[in-house]
Amino acid sequence: MSQYTGEFKILHPENMNARVCVVVGTRPGIVMFSPIIRQLEQSGADFFVLHTGQHYSQNMDGVLFTDLSLKQPKYRLESVQYCKYHGEQTAEMLKGIERVLLDERPRMVLVGGDANTNLAGALAACKLHLKVGHVEAGERSFDWSMPEEHNRVIIDHISNYLFATGEKAKNNLIREAIRGSIIVSGNPIVDACYQNLEFARRRNAQRRFDVESKQFILVTLHREENTDNPTRLRSALEAIHAVGVELGLTPLMFTHPRTQKRIEALGLSSAVRNGIRFEEPIGYLDFLDMLASAALVCTDSGGVQQEACILKTPALTFRDNTEWTETIEMGANLLVGVDPHAAVEGARTMVHKCGTWSQPFGDGSAAERIVSTVIKEIGR
Ligand code: UD1
Ligand code: UDP
Repeated sequence: MSQYTGEFKILHPENMNARVCVVVGTRPGIVMFSPIIRQLEQSGADFFVLHTGQHYSQNMDGVLFTDLSLKQPKYRLESVQYCKYHGEQTAEMLKGIERVLLDERPRMVLVGGDANTNLAGALAACKLHLKVGHVEAGERSFDWSMPEEHNRVIIDHISNYLFATGEKAKNNLIREAIRGSIIVSGNPIVDACYQNLEFARRRNAQRRFDVESKQFILVTLHREENTDNPTRLRSALEAIHAVGVELGLTPLMFTHPRTQKRIEALGLSSAVRNGIRFEEPIGYLDFLDMLASAALVCTDSGGVQQEACILKTPALTFRDNTEWTETIEMGANLLVGVDPHAAVEGARTMVHKCGTWSQPFGDGSAAERIVSTVIKEIGR
């Protein structure tokens, strides 16, 4: 039971504290919020971190807290990891977050990105009449079959502060006649990358995986449209294998647990798996180092598309669309779907492009801009 004994279904301003709640729960969210949490600490703001428990494995969660020197969250929801469906998972998080918000009564809740964690956080806050800040607002794939697109659109429409990474995201929000205030903050993924790269480079993760710089292809694959469609998953693995053969380089895949489970459940034969080196997910620092050292990256991840662009590693994106169209326009990234022929063609073009673009995601001070808005709001 909540300590908040008010009989109302919402929180009234006089019962709120000058406090902010940061909601995390997935691997990309922890990376994105790491510079914001640091900035909140430096500014002396009253804040706490709530972890929804959406990601829970050590190599998807715990390792990131260690790598990024983050304190353990004040709250962690333990029941969410047992939920299977989107609705069930979102509902369980919504209930747990609401309970915490009723106890803590922060004036503002920050969510970041497009995972179910963020929808639950934004909705819980909105229902209680707390202010919602959405980091990475306004990104769109315009693909309504994606769970992430549902989440982005809904979160943006119930947020009070929309922290857009750039003008494109801002214009998407204006086009949708969004209610909240838009702040072009830049992208905290850049902050995280710049703050950690030098340290990451010293780890020499290539030695751990026994590969030479620019002599391997880094692969990540986990999006629902690829993993939960057997035909697409098989085709994606064939495409990765074909790219490896074409370039004469080993594809090294840091396999998301979802993908690992689907490969096992589908009993994908060794013929499909052949030629790809499968490894478990690795920590953020090792991953940054590997990404900066790869000859090419094949991915369907949003964060990895951006980081590859920042680190000047050419990318092939195994999707039919992307929110991160800037990376395509800059020539840093190419959409190839999961077609092996398109992937091989793309690899031939992209592998020679190393570093010929400038990254479009901001100057590495997004966290400062976001926190300065947060402090004004909670101090009201
Ligand atoms: C979620 C996000 C996706 C984001 C991704 C980042 C949604 C709708 N999707 O997808 O946008 O790109 O996180 O990685 O929120 N699992 C584990 N251990 C973990 C986490 C997951 O074993 O720590 C397995 C579980 O079997 C789980 C499955 O992966 O059922 C899928 O996890 P879930 O959090 O539902 O979605 P992601 O695919 O991770
Ligand atoms: N990442 C990591 N270890 C890995 C793979 C990725 O630390 O083995 C990091 C990567 O640097 C990026 C984030 O995870 O910051 C991206 O998360 P993910 O691909 O799971 O989600 P998405 O960005 O697609 O939502």
